[in-house]
Amino acid sequence: MLGKLDEERISNDRRLQKLLIDPFWGYLWPGSYALHKHIREHGASTIKHRNVLDFASGCGLSAITASRLEPSEVIANDIDDFAIAAVEVNAELNGVEPGRIGLTASNLCGNGIVVKELFKDPNLPLTILCGDVFYDLEFAAVVMEWLAKQEGAEIYVGDPGRHALPRSGELEEVAEYDLPPLLKDSNNGMTSVKCFRYTQV
Ligand SMILES: C[S@@+](CC[C@H](N)C(=O)[O-])C[C@H]1O[C@@H](n2cnc3c(N)ncnc32)[C@H](O)[C@@H]1O
Repeated sequence: MLGKLDEERISNDRRLQKLLIDPFWGYLWPGSYALHKHIREHGASTIKHRNVLDFASGCGLSAITASRLEPSEVIANDIDDFAIAAVEVNAELNGVEPGRIGLTASNLCGNGIVVKELFKDPNLPLTILCGDVFYDLEFAAVVMEWLAKQEGAEIYVGDPGRHALPRSGELEEVAEYDLPPLLKDSNNGMTSVKCFRYTQV
């Protein structure tokens, strides 16, 4: 239980708030569950021998799964450095060899970073995985603008049908998965999640 001093300290410290209050990296979102299922079923065409970016990786499940499917290289990216630390810990707990998953907390959207150049061999085909990134209308618009610039990349989105999921035609549904009981319980009655393939319209 928190004492009064702890509460005061938390309410005055944004980093502590980020760490302790409902952290996005502290649990698995349905979006990454869909991506995990989809790439496990289609690893040969979506991941094998490719560069893979797990964008907005949170706890890092998509990156961890991708790392087992013979990618050329996998990078997890999240602007929350606690999430980046969580990916490292979760990877280790799940037997991923140290260093197998590259990590970056850079904001890749709108700052001119060329995604393919983050990888050792930028000429390899690129897959971008986006799990549950459409939870907020403003961020959804930023993500869609950024995805539109990722020419040549194979892009997959996992989403349970949140309010900010774009309905503008770029996202083609490729699969739907039942959520396991734990994810149903922690997601207010959601029962399934979809995997979409992004293409420019
Ligand atoms: C809803 S969580 C999804 C996490 C994970 N993909 C999953 O499905 O379990 C969204 C994540 O987006 C991250 N995020 C927000 N803005 C971002 C940005 N500009 N670039 C990268 N990650 C970002 C947050 O820190 C958070 O970890």
